[in-house]
Amino acid sequence: MEVIIRRDPAAAALLVARIIAKELRANPHMTLGLATGRTMEAVYRHLVQMHRKENLDFSLCRTFNLDEYVGLPREHPGSYYRYMHEHLFKKVNIDPRNAHLPNGAARNLDQECERYEQDIRRFGGINLQLLGIGRAGHIGFNEPLSALFSRTRVKALTPTTIQQNAPLFGGPGQVPRRAITMGVGTILEAHRLLLLATGSEKGEIIAKAVEGPITSMISATALQLHRRCTVVVDDAAATHLQGADYYRWVFANEPEWAEFRKG
Ligand code: GLP
Repeated sequence: MEVIIRRDPAAAALLVARIIAKELRANPHMTLGLATGRTMEAVYRHLVQMHRKENLDFSLCRTFNLDEYVGLPREHPGSYYRYMHEHLFKKVNIDPRNAHLPNGAARNLDQECERYEQDIRRFGGINLQLLGIGRAGHIGFNEPLSALFSRTRVKALTPTTIQQNAPLFGGPGQVPRRAITMGVGTILEAHRLLLLATGSEKGEIIAKAVEGPITSMISATALQLHRRCTVVVDDAAATHLQGADYYRWVFANEPEWAEFRKG
C-alpha cells in the first residue's frame, strides 16, 4: 500500500483523476471499477473536464460500479445508477452498454449478485477500482463483519451508514435498508486499487484502515492485503496517520510520482 497526502480535497481529487486518466490512455479498453459518494463528485468533474478539453476517451472502456441500493428503481434520485448518470455517464462518451451497475430492483437478488460476479469475470476482471470509504470504514457497502473473501451479495446497512447517506434521500427514514455490494474478495481481485478520502471526519478511520490491524469489522483494512493499493488523502484526513512523514517522503522522491507532483 502507498499513501499520498495532498494539501486539500481539490488537489487530492485531481491526483486521483490524473491516475485514472493515465491508466485509461494507456489502455483504452480497460475495465474501470467506479465508486459513488460525495467525495467522488470532484473526481468525476475532473474526468469530465479531461474528456472535454483533453480528449480523454471513454468510448472503449467498460465500467463496473461497486454497489447499488436494494429496492430502488434506476430512475430514483437516490440510486447510484442515477448518481453515475448525472456525474459521469451522460457527460462523457461512454457506451451505456458498457456501464454496469448491480440492479437493486432485480426480482431475484441472489441471481443478480451471481450474474454481476460472472460479468466482471467474463470481461477479464477489473483493471483499476476506485474506492471511497464510509465513516465506519466500509468499502462499497461492506459493513462490519464482511468476510475478507466475500463476493457480490446483499448486505444490511448499519444505522451509521443510513444516517450518513440520509441527506441524499431527504431523511434517514427514506434510505433503503439493504444494498447489493461487491464483496471484499471481489474488490481485492482488481489489478489496482485507488482509494480517495478527504476531510477531518475521515481522519480517524483512515488511520485505522491504513495502519490498524486487519479486521472484518472494518472492511477497508483488507486493502492492506492488496499488492497495488494507492490511498490518496488530503491534509485533514491525514492528521491521525503515524507514518505521514514517510508517506510524504516517498511521494516526493519516488520517480513513479514525478509527473503527479505538480498541481
Ligand atoms: C457510501 C458508498 C461508499 C462510499 C461512502 C462514502 O456508503 N457505498 O462506496 O465510499 O458512501 O461517501 P462520501 O464520499 O459521501 O463520504
